[in-house]
Amino acid sequence: MNRRWELPPTLKWENDRLLLIDQTRLPEELVFIECTTPEAVAESIKNMKVRGAPAIGVAAAFGVYLAVKDFRGEKGALSEALDRAATILRDTRPTAHNLFWAINRMMEKARETIKEGVEKVKEALFAEAKKMWEEDVEVNKAIGRNGSQFIKDGANVLTICNAGSLATVWYGTALGIVRSAIEEGKRLRVYACETRPRLQGTLTLFELLKDKIPATLITDFMAGYLMSKGKIDVVITGADRITRNGDVANKIGTYTLAVLAKAHGIPFIIAAPLSTIDMNIARGEDIPIEERDWEEVLFIKGKRIFPEEVEVINPAFDITPANYIGAIVTEKGVCFPPFEESLPLLFSHRR
Ligand code: MRU
Repeated sequence: MNRRWELPPTLKWENDRLLLIDQTRLPEELVFIECTTPEAVAESIKNMKVRGAPAIGVAAAFGVYLAVKDFRGEKGALSEALDRAATILRDTRPTAHNLFWAINRMMEKARETIKEGVEKVKEALFAEAKKMWEEDVEVNKAIGRNGSQFIKDGANVLTICNAGSLATVWYGTALGIVRSAIEEGKRLRVYACETRPRLQGTLTLFELLKDKIPATLITDFMAGYLMSKGKIDVVITGADRITRNGDVANKIGTYTLAVLAKAHGIPFIIAAPLSTIDMNIARGEDIPIEERDWEEVLFIKGKRIFPEEVEVINPAFDITPANYIGAIVTEKGVCFPPFEESLPLLFSHRR
């Protein structure tokens, strides 16, 4: 079935600048903001104007390019400008592996080309960032095709956070699987957790409604009730970092859903590109978990809803141990447990 998906790409290069959908202004208004410096890109990542592991990776890649775009000077100063930009961009959000993967890939490209001169580095970095943008769309579509087998006709799919078009360049990972299943003619409904405290569920609802995909909003703790009533057939989420053994860092609340899914015999599926997999880390407990501002918990839409003296914690992500995960869907295929055997195979067939 041919379906037209309505959302524009989350980020794009236009008129010599990076344009990002400002996700802090959704769902009220869909507006793009301009970034012309690595600092502006870093600020947008930190404040979650652009968010979702693949999207922040590609945004950071353009951020690295912006450090050299108008550079005039010697190779040594160029390297310094690049190092400075990489540090600023790395220092934004610690959990999503795609951010570090993208910056490292850009820095590697700069190292490879610097002997050919400053202009060559600029050219190569622009080409590399554009390539990452294009690849991300293709990768998401492949994840969709590989993962649609987990959605049966008529299925109810539960998800958390936003692992959709808005979390990537376009199409999405978890929601890419949903889109792919619909393109195959399957009927389905997505149950979207609101995802306190940042309410990324509003983003998921925004994109599902825009694309006329049947969707139901639930508060985070309704998930167990729905599962106990037989209302959920499969849970599909994205990932921010996957370790060698298949442990997964994803939005806070994901672990709760995985435990509940196991208790109810419901498949729990992770959708993520290879750029989310960190083969340098053995176990989930070694993943740095971002702790965000308390105000995100204390305030809703600018209004304080808890007393001032209250103590808060605000971890943005949690770790789902591999033994709760039924499959990890990537662009190169589906990995099943034991993941310490299946994940390395994805990399051994790479160029
Ligand atoms: O804090 P966020 O909104 O950046 O968190 C995003 C998620 O947890 C997503 O599930 C993950 O990045 C995968 S997005 C395809």
